[in-house]
Amino acid sequence: MESMRAAGLERPHRVRSGRQGATVVLDGRTLLNFGSNDYLGYAGDVRLTKAASKGACAEGFGAGASPLVSGHSLAHERLERAIAGLLAVENALVFPSGFAANTATIAAVAGSGDFVASDERNHASIIDGCRLSRAEVGIYAHRDLASLDRLLGSAKLARRRLVVTDTLFSMDGTIAPLAGLCEVAERHGAIVMVDEAHATGVFGDRGSGLVEAAGCADGVQVRVGTLSKAVGAAGGFVAGHAKLIEWLRHKARAWIFSTAHPPAVAAAAERAIGLILEEPLRRRELLERAASFRESLVAEGIDLGGAAAQIVPVVAGSAEAACGVQEALAVEGFFVPAIRPPSVPQGRSLVRASLSWHHSAEDLSRLAAAIGRAVGRPRTRGDFAG
Ligand SMILES: Cc1ncc(COP(=O)(O)O)c(C=O)c1O
Repeated sequence: MESMRAAGLERPHRVRSGRQGATVVLDGRTLLNFGSNDYLGYAGDVRLTKAASKGACAEGFGAGASPLVSGHSLAHERLERAIAGLLAVENALVFPSGFAANTATIAAVAGSGDFVASDERNHASIIDGCRLSRAEVGIYAHRDLASLDRLLGSAKLARRRLVVTDTLFSMDGTIAPLAGLCEVAERHGAIVMVDEAHATGVFGDRGSGLVEAAGCADGVQVRVGTLSKAVGAAGGFVAGHAKLIEWLRHKARAWIFSTAHPPAVAAAAERAIGLILEEPLRRRELLERAASFRESLVAEGIDLGGAAAQIVPVVAGSAEAACGVQEALAVEGFFVPAIRPPSVPQGRSLVRASLSWHHSAEDLSRLAAAIGRAVGRPRTRGDFAG
């Protein structure tokens, strides 16, 4: 801990009062909230609270057992059908978290003798899943199809090949080149698994994610998502072919050996999936405002490094510089968390603005101006590294 403190990498322990929304109260300080994944504003929505309380009244609060034994309730069953419907796939399986869905699924789909190609910026749960699987793992350069092609070409002797990627990268706000990736994978006979954690509910006409938006559902065999970000509840899911789900019910250890998440949570998530279908305007408004916000930052001279969605990182360089920008923004009334190693590579510490439907165009233009002031000029990438 001392060496982490000395390197400026001590993790904060903040306590939030009240619900997620446009503003957040952290350690008693009220700030405009750019530090949640509540993209559609459903986390604090009373319609989810009502669905959860109705669900708890009907089925009690605790699930009481793993889904395999007796924890899989009617609420979970309805939720899995709703997810499969939203994604237009045969079936889905709900996990206690998105993290568990990734680790369990990769380890169930790949094993010793197999090869997994993983984007260098993939989420920690994908990295851990790759390690758990005991497959050989190769890392390709971020969103680089030539690098992926070479990597898969080097794994011709593997029993099975799997390509795994976030669709919207949580630290960079960048989007995976899904159509090209599916084409490369198909050429090498590889299975494609995507993690839509930050895209579910936000992208696609129906709101099912970037696979839908890119029109490549046929090229993706394993679709993971979470219920804890835009869906506003908690849990993770895997969706796809009925045979995949049947296999996971036999092999996914986090589904077999962990208690199902509470049925009330499943009921709230099911309600939110209904809202995602009923309220497409929320995602359209969010993405329109995000595009204007990114334009304002570029006009401030900030290099966004390919960010193309509602997650907008501003790279500060050192951990100390990122914390300085966070604090300067907090003084102006904004919570925009600093992200430091190991969540990002050394020298790429950043502040990350996660936008929500709750933010008005005016909130966003005020934040863009405040970021401009906080990072100073000239403001190209790394210029204000400490
Ligand atoms: C890309 C990605 N995948 C998976 C997860 C894990 O999801 P959950 O929070 O539901 O465990 C996260 C959460 O931060 C994430 O960013």
